[in-house]
Amino acid sequence: MANVTVIGAQWGDEGKGKLVDWLSNRADVVVRFQGGHNAGHTLVVGNQTYKLSLLPSGVVQGKLSIIGNGVVVDPWHLLKEIEGIGAQGIKIGPELLVLADNACLILPIHRDLDQAREAAATNKIGTTGRGIGPAYEDKVGRRAIRVADLADREALEAKIDRLLAHHAPLRAGLGLPPVDAAALLAELEDLAPKILAFAQPAWLKLDGIVKSGKRVLFEGAQGALLDVDHGTYPYVTSSNTVAGQAAAGSGLGPKGPGYVLGIVKAYTTRVGEGPFPTELFDEVGQHLGTVGREFGTVTGRSRRCGWFDAALVRQSVALNGISGIALTKLDVLDGLPTLKICTGYRLNGQDIGYLPAGLKAQGQLEPVYEEMEGWSETTQGARSWKDLPASAVKYVRRIEELIGAPVALLSTSPQRDDTILMRDPFHD
Ligand code: GDP
Ligand code: IMO
Ligand code: MG
Repeated sequence: MANVTVIGAQWGDEGKGKLVDWLSNRADVVVRFQGGHNAGHTLVVGNQTYKLSLLPSGVVQGKLSIIGNGVVVDPWHLLKEIEGIGAQGIKIGPELLVLADNACLILPIHRDLDQAREAAATNKIGTTGRGIGPAYEDKVGRRAIRVADLADREALEAKIDRLLAHHAPLRAGLGLPPVDAAALLAELEDLAPKILAFAQPAWLKLDGIVKSGKRVLFEGAQGALLDVDHGTYPYVTSSNTVAGQAAAGSGLGPKGPGYVLGIVKAYTTRVGEGPFPTELFDEVGQHLGTVGREFGTVTGRSRRCGWFDAALVRQSVALNGISGIALTKLDVLDGLPTLKICTGYRLNGQDIGYLPAGLKAQGQLEPVYEEMEGWSETTQGARSWKDLPASAVKYVRRIEELIGAPVALLSTSPQRDDTILMRDPFHD
């Protein structure tokens, strides 16, 4: 298959960045299609660590990178990230990065609103506070400022007025000060040339790339259970994170996504609020958090940890049309004598094999576990299937069986090359 789409199959932080970086040397272009700088992707290459939020992870391997129309873009953050990664030796100019001219912008007013709402809420979502939700609200409300607007002062001025008219009462209600329209216009005009240098009709660029027989790697952010439709609503992000969004969020059409590679952690984590049936509050949970270094890249918050939930990933396989998975962080389970896998739930005395839509029901699910023997050997850094202890092989095979998808790749440490290829997604 020519194209591959990488998506998170749980609640995010599955190791998408590492896998996209690894796969990108087999691709010609890497495309982000949703989310924004709420994402945090850590890539480890030798003694260098790269932390990316908005830039597609292909930039590290010097691949053409596209930020598609489905992404919400904080232009200040984009310039800062380009500068930061530049200081690590990766120079990013318009020959390496394309920004969709029809992508919507995240402005400081979006961040203000996101943070003020979270501060005032009794039922917090636990957002990253980066303005993602409010920016998508303005997008679907048809009042957002888009990248192309930066080239048209008159249109920009009118759009700012319209946008601020909408935000003024919201800000007042939350006790935020009014915004100076002229100052915002001046700031945007100041950064416009730097941003516009990357702006293009990204769909047209991609169309040409595909017609010339090149390979596209789509990079999802967040995870299927954070999808605004399919996730644990309202404890979700504000975009569609499932693989189908790769088409709409890039302009490539429904055949574009190709092979769907779900990134799956060998256990489960979640950052922020919301239901989590297999969450652990004991020393096993602490082991996963400590050994797995489960701290958010963006906010530094501790991630909640729990056993592998096969019911949840089975649902994700269906929602995304997953062709195969990359199983990550198997090494974090090293040394645990017994492992548990959730195969389904009990709800009000009944068996249920999926996550129901209702929030109350989601909160009442009792996981049904199957126990498996752990392994005392180390899998950390294993580069061959043959290096894995028999119990680890059994664990992986059982996961495949329960979720109904094969393992295409296995990741055994944060390092780029500690990756085992079982079947090549670009040739499957
Ligand atoms: P993403 O948001 O899906 O890209 O994932 P993050 O980068 O937020 O979180 C994954 C974390 O696990 C990062 O710190 C990675 O360096 C690390 N990581 C990725 N794969 C592995 C693995 O197989 N084993 C271990 N121990 N760490 C991994
Ligand atoms: P990556 O790409 C994990 C979570 C937040 C919060 C909810 C809504 O690194 O996997 P938002 O700021 O998007 O409105 O927050 O979504 N969240 C993530 N959790 N990984 C992410 O991205 C996330 N991006 C957002 O913690 O619960
Ligand atoms: Mg992350």
